[in-house]
Amino acid sequence: AAGGMSGRPGLGLGSARLPLLLCCLRLCLTGSAAPPHLVVVLADDLGWHDVGWHDSLIRTPHLDALGAGGVGLERYPLGTPSRSQLLTGRYQIHTGLQHQIIWPCQPSCVPLDEKLLPELLKEAGYVTHMVGKWHLGMYKKECLPTRRGFDTYFGYLLGSEDYYSHERCVFISAKNATRCALDFRDGEEVAVGYENMYSTNVFTKRAVDLIANHKTEKPLFLYIALQSVHEPLQVPEEYMKPYAFIKDGKRRHYAGMVSIMDEAVGNVTSALKRYGLWDNTVLIFSTDNGGQTLGGGNNWPLRGRKWTLWEGGVRGVGFVASPLLKQKGVESHELIHISDWLPTLVKLVGGSVNSTKPLDGFDVWKTISEGSPSPRKELLHNIDPVFVDTSPCPGINNKTSSPHNSFTWEDSIFNISIHAAIRHGRWKLLTGYPGCSHWFPPPSLFSESKILSSDPPTKKLWLFDVVKDAEERNDLSEKYPGVVKKLLSRLQHYYKHSVPVFYPDDDPQCDPAAAGAWGPWM
Ligand SMILES: *[C@@H]1O[C@H](CO)[C@@H](O)[C@H](O)[C@H]1NC(C)=O
Ligand SMILES: *[C@@H]1O[C@H](CO)[C@@H](O)[C@H](O)[C@H]1NC(C)=O
Ligand SMILES: *[C@@H]1O[C@H](CO)[C@@H](O)[C@H](O)[C@H]1NC(C)=O
Ligand SMILES: *[C@@H]1O[C@H](CO)[C@@H](O)[C@H](O)[C@H]1NC(C)=O
Ligand SMILES: *[C@@H]1O[C@H](CO)[C@@H](O)[C@H](O)[C@H]1NC(C)=O
Repeated sequence: AAGGMSGRPGLGLGSARLPLLLCCLRLCLTGSAAPPHLVVVLADDLGWHDVGWHDSLIRTPHLDALGAGGVGLERYPLGTPSRSQLLTGRYQIHTGLQHQIIWPCQPSCVPLDEKLLPELLKEAGYVTHMVGKWHLGMYKKECLPTRRGFDTYFGYLLGSEDYYSHERCVFISAKNATRCALDFRDGEEVAVGYENMYSTNVFTKRAVDLIANHKTEKPLFLYIALQSVHEPLQVPEEYMKPYAFIKDGKRRHYAGMVSIMDEAVGNVTSALKRYGLWDNTVLIFSTDNGGQTLGGGNNWPLRGRKWTLWEGGVRGVGFVASPLLKQKGVESHELIHISDWLPTLVKLVGGSVNSTKPLDGFDVWKTISEGSPSPRKELLHNIDPVFVDTSPCPGINNKTSSPHNSFTWEDSIFNISIHAAIRHGRWKLLTGYPGCSHWFPPPSLFSESKILSSDPPTKKLWLFDVVKDAEERNDLSEKYPGVVKKLLSRLQHYYKHSVPVFYPDDDPQCDPAAAGAWGPWM
């Protein structure tokens, strides 16, 4: 367990003094006697170049101010996608979710023997609420958020729905038919009456209500997984007005969506202030993966996009804002990964991670709050032996990995035809086909829509110094064979200890025609 969370060593005091001691520890850790309220805001497909502090054309005043007053995470790599890692503290190779996502008709969910963050926080005395996108599986009731640690849930279980109708359309091949049905729940019940209300407004209102009604001694955990800014590109007209200068229609819509999301975070934080919670709150803002350039997002100047292992797919925007931080107004350049939040938060509030499976996350609170070096030296972006990317990528046909045409010395350590990437310190090694390899400048900035990669299609191995070369332009694999060798053996180590990909066939019984809504069918 890389997390290394094993209680509090070396205290050696009688158990009678333990409550007092925990209290003192909390005081030292947070500067406050009561455990802090925790608010995690997860944005969907928000790219590197999609926030005001990376692109001055995008207006995110609330996020800018929160980030500037807190600790900005400027070296925050994710998996792709990463929701399961946030709630389990474990890499996808340990949960079977390393291939793509859970599609609507797959009988799959985050394994039920994984203990999730809200369960651990509940054990630590928290009230736990979730608003927004679940997407961690729903084929049976046991998979639902309300069965996995959340006291309340309000949101949608799948992804890519309509922002207004809250419907999701899915082609069910066994029935040769497309089914459109509502995907909106309040608790476990289908939520009706929200048609024509934009989801970001609906979710923000629920979050604000939860904050307003938090009238208990217990601390609050609120997980807000916004639909913003995932496709479809929909936003109330007024939010696009400030972007009339952006000629590209997709980008203009997307920019409006970012702005309403920014307002949502502003409303949530002002509610936390208004109802007296803010002084004892830790707020994390994070994206789940890079931006989708085909859907208005942008990761410039980083390479690649969502679904790829290039930095554009895995370097996330994020920050921590809290009056409890010891350092404020700083950028952290330490390695922090989305799987780190689970041990970080649970330990911060005096909870225990004893009952989880071995964690891949580290407790990075001191790194964030005090600027100490990250305990994390390495991270695995992903290993997906059955990777395919079907989204259009200029010049690359059918998006599979290049054929395994010749056996190289590298293959004797790790099969370099496999889609994988690992980070160790400043080094990043990629193997196989990492996904669409071009650079996509923002449409508002350049006339070109892409800068094509000059790598031959047969290339399967890259090494970058991503501290100096975040844009992944200079492959150093030939120059540093020793580093390549070491990282390949680390990949092989992870691969050997990974669980098989769990990616079941669609189950036609998912058909929502009878129930009238998407939901558990088993
Ligand atoms: C599926 O439906 C389409 C249109 O309804 C039809 O043209 C096609 O033949 C059907 N395919 C099969 C395999 O039934
Ligand atoms: C934020 O609050 C204002 C005032 O209540 C409201 O008009 C606006 O719609 C809210 N924004 C979002 C994104 O819900
Ligand atoms: C967690 O495990 C450690 C070491 O095994 C033990 O000392 C500690 O009491 C456990 N904590 C809880 C809350 O179970
Ligand atoms: C190496 O990985 C590729 C891609 O996953 C696979 O097609 C191939 O069979 C593997 N080769 C060996 C020798 O395992
Ligand atoms: C992709 O593969 C299919 C079947 O293997 C083939 O028919 C099609 O022409 C290919 N497309 C491109 C753009 O190469």
